[in-house]
Amino acid sequence: MDSMEKIVSLCKRRGFIFPSSEIYGGLNGCWDYGPLGVELKRNVKQAWWDDMVAHHDETASPAGAPATFSMVGLDSSLLMNPKVWEASGHVGGFSDPMVDDRETRARYRADQLAVFALEFVATDGTVESYDEVLFAAPGEIGKTDPAELFEPHRKRIASLQKARQGRNARPVGIPDALQNDAVRMKVIAPGATGPGTLTAPRAFNLMFKTHVGALEDNSSVTYLRPETAQGIFVNFKNVCDTARVRVPFGIGQIGKAFRNEINPRNFTFRSREFEQMEIEFFCRANNSAQWYEYWRDRRYRWYIALGIRPGNLHLREHDKDELAHYAAGCADVEYDFPFGRSELEGIANRTDFDLRQHMQMSGKDLRYFDDQETNEDARRYLPHVIEPSAGADRGTLAFLCDAYSEDEVGGEPRTVLKLHPRLAPIKAAVFPLVKKDGMPEKALAIYRSLKKRFNVYYDEKGAIGRRYRRQDEAGTPFCITVDGDTLTADTVTVRERDTCEQTRISVAELGDVLGERLGG
Ligand code: GAP
Repeated sequence: MDSMEKIVSLCKRRGFIFPSSEIYGGLNGCWDYGPLGVELKRNVKQAWWDDMVAHHDETASPAGAPATFSMVGLDSSLLMNPKVWEASGHVGGFSDPMVDDRETRARYRADQLAVFALEFVATDGTVESYDEVLFAAPGEIGKTDPAELFEPHRKRIASLQKARQGRNARPVGIPDALQNDAVRMKVIAPGATGPGTLTAPRAFNLMFKTHVGALEDNSSVTYLRPETAQGIFVNFKNVCDTARVRVPFGIGQIGKAFRNEINPRNFTFRSREFEQMEIEFFCRANNSAQWYEYWRDRRYRWYIALGIRPGNLHLREHDKDELAHYAAGCADVEYDFPFGRSELEGIANRTDFDLRQHMQMSGKDLRYFDDQETNEDARRYLPHVIEPSAGADRGTLAFLCDAYSEDEVGGEPRTVLKLHPRLAPIKAAVFPLVKKDGMPEKALAIYRSLKKRFNVYYDEKGAIGRRYRRQDEAGTPFCITVDGDTLTADTVTVRERDTCEQTRISVAELGDVLGERLGG
């Protein structure tokens, strides 16, 4: 089992994440969070909301902020007037290039189907190229392990190798091969018996269409939102008029988004239904570059503060030619998932593009009015926008992957989730050492009193070592055990998950000690 398979298996076994509607065979790209998973994901969202919105103190902005600013929240509707998506550009341009295999009926995203020719390398280094027939495999040239690219064509490549006295074969990527009809006709798709079965790429709009009301005609079409951001832009004026906010300020929102992804994959990483945590931060154009850097760096630090190992997290600034035509800057926070380095969050300087589009389409004046500005020309303006846009499911998956570890305790292997205490689904488990001598009664009393403050768990079944292991797999930071001394001295042992160290603590102090160790 590779490490991703182990994580997926742990998620299923311990009730973090299940395939959606599994008893009917599931639905590709949709996932359900079980009892532990829902707590973990809620904690991720709560940490984001607390750190970015609710407990953001505008009178004492974090160090490095160019000025004080306020943050407010929003919960906009998921279905909106379809004009929103025309103005935002999603109706016209939110698409991926899709190719179909006429023989196997498989469907691929053209940019995620690597097309390669072969080179055969002799021991003396001479290279022989082979491009009479090209091969296609899910993945990206340069990013995907060549062994994985070869896998769907193993037999055919082996026979070509044999004909060349076993010389080493290596893939040579052919960019944009599927766009070119003549080249595409030479490509063998995975599972196809011969070349030429792939269709030309065509644009596939990722929005889920639906109808509002009883009539299913064009007049009733709308879309499940593919991002939460537009709900913020269309409420910009409402928030300005009611919340007494002054530029610079930000609006944060957490909510579901839907995309009809061509190829959902890598567990929850690319899903069709997922949650976003987005901020639209409104500022003046002349200091938007400064705010962009501020948010980019702050968002990167947020993941580290919640326990992601710095070596696994990267900030990737986009090249100029990668930027959307309206964007003045964009960076991705990327994480080294077991399946490769991939985007967790994007931070973009979107200029005034979105507000301008909505102002034009709606005919409403969305300019901000600065009543303290003395220069008449500068009093009304469209703010520029910095957008840190994170995925709650991708974040949750990254925290799970980073926390997953295997070690040995007392000569026995154990699996442990070293989750940050703020994220851990269960904060502490309470056990009676044995199920007699009044220990269960005492342990239950402790459990009930802690339950008022923390998400704690009670377990009296099985050997104590087994109970510890179960909590290690659930990521529970502390296990509290009631033993013989508890009954005489009113103390318990508190075992720390990562070190397995045990300390004795008086029952009277337990709640406060736990609160302190969990971070308040
Ligand atoms: N408003 C900007 C926006 O939506 P995006 O890069 O398309 O930008 C932002 O999405 C974040 O949403 C991504 O970085 C990712 O964390 C999450 N996300 C996007 N598509 C996703 C999918 N199919 N499954 C899970 N998360 C996704």
